Amino acid sequence: MKLDPFGTIDSTYSNNPAATWKKLLGFGGSQVFHDPELGLWLIAGYDNVRSALTDSRRFSNAATLAPIRPLSDATAEALAGFDAPDVLVSADAPQHTLIRATLRALFPNTSARAEHAWAALIAARVDQLVDDLAGQDNTDLMRTVAARLPLLVILDILGIAADDLHTIPGWADGFLDLVWGDLGPDAQLAAAHGFVDFWHLCRSTVTTRASQPDPGPGLIGDLLRHQRGNDARLSMDKIAALVLNLTVAGWESTTGALGHALEHGLTDPHRWAQLADDEHYLATHVEESLRHSPAVDGWPRITTTEVTLDGTVIPAGSRCLLLIGSANHDPRVYGTPDRFDPGRAWLSQHLSFGAGPHYCIGAALARLEITTTLRTLARRFPHLRLADDYQRRFRPNVAARTHQSLPATTGTATRCPYGHDTSSGTRP
Ligand code: HEM
Repeated sequence: MKLDPFGTIDSTYSNNPAATWKKLLGFGGSQVFHDPELGLWLIAGYDNVRSALTDSRRFSNAATLAPIRPLSDATAEALAGFDAPDVLVSADAPQHTLIRATLRALFPNTSARAEHAWAALIAARVDQLVDDLAGQDNTDLMRTVAARLPLLVILDILGIAADDLHTIPGWADGFLDLVWGDLGPDAQLAAAHGFVDFWHLCRSTVTTRASQPDPGPGLIGDLLRHQRGNDARLSMDKIAALVLNLTVAGWESTTGALGHALEHGLTDPHRWAQLADDEHYLATHVEESLRHSPAVDGWPRITTTEVTLDGTVIPAGSRCLLLIGSANHDPRVYGTPDRFDPGRAWLSQHLSFGAGPHYCIGAALARLEITTTLRTLARRFPHLRLADDYQRRFRPNVAARTHQSLPATTGTATRCPYGHDTSSGTRP
């Protein structure tokens, strides 16, 4: 069985992954397959994916950030400068358990805590981006909104001045393609250099802040106050690695999810109108978009021992790709899974934020960002529509499912409900 994620631009998996999930789920036998081309075991189906995600003893996170394609010698040499300790997404117990407990205490991870801590900050950032759209007839919503908002928000939360924004995307953006994509040798090397530079920036930011009498605002300040000079409790490198993990995880995946939620809203004017006025619809639209179109639709693990899953034997030391998208489209759990149906049962049981000990710590934050963005855009731009010639294209990647662009026409903006001066149009 081959996934073929890096085939031609029109290959099925890169543009219509649901068709591949359907095929994998429809074989009738085991839903665990070996893909000889990728060198990965593909794990499909809700029960299989859930069981692998939650079984972190036999399915380790140790190789999660190891590139799935071979690296050139020059790239491997450049990456030798990346000496960040494993925290969170690439760590296993007991290391992971300790770091996760520290972060849980400092990082709001329920909807009530997230709303209390960040609702005003997110609303201000969304307003700022939406204000910038006024006066533009055409825009690429990925570039102007989806890729910008999560980065601004995570920098605010960490306590890093947004002035650094112009340098960060170039440094961090190639990471996804380097690890889970298929870059040529030159692009690989550039991405590796960018990522190592980004790691050094995280480290110097943390050590500079630590050397000051007051470590300053945001989560970096909170982590340094918690650390209080005690390296045994939490080393500087671990704090820097947390900053790096949170920036990449908090930015790229939310960018992808925003793109999907916007596309689902904009393909139907009735939905777009409901997003402006109906809070219940808004919440279920966001949740169904997360289920239907997960921004992370495959996630790597490595087996620590021989595992029999769904009747198939996976040898010890095998790299696996947990097909989260196939779990969310398993017809035994979600009837007519390819239909976008915010009213469906078991909606919030999707696996888009993972499950078990590594469950996404930023899920509440991501939901808040997406909800705020959709509500604000739908109110301010009721006539926003995808461009007539829009064609769905995703960046070729086995983990992150991100639109290349979302070209749209803005229509007339209405008055800002928060009192900002935008245009003279009135709400229909
Ligand atoms: C819609 C947006 C998002 C999606 C689809 C997503 C998806 C995921 C998934 C599938 C995992 C599980 C990884 C595993 O099992 O190994 C995960 C973990 C994680 N996510 Fe998210 N995420 C999103 C947003 C965020 C945000 C906004 C943040 C933080 C600012 C964040 C930070 C993390 C971190 C730190 C982990 C690792 C947790 C651990 O290993 O204990 N994510 N995310």
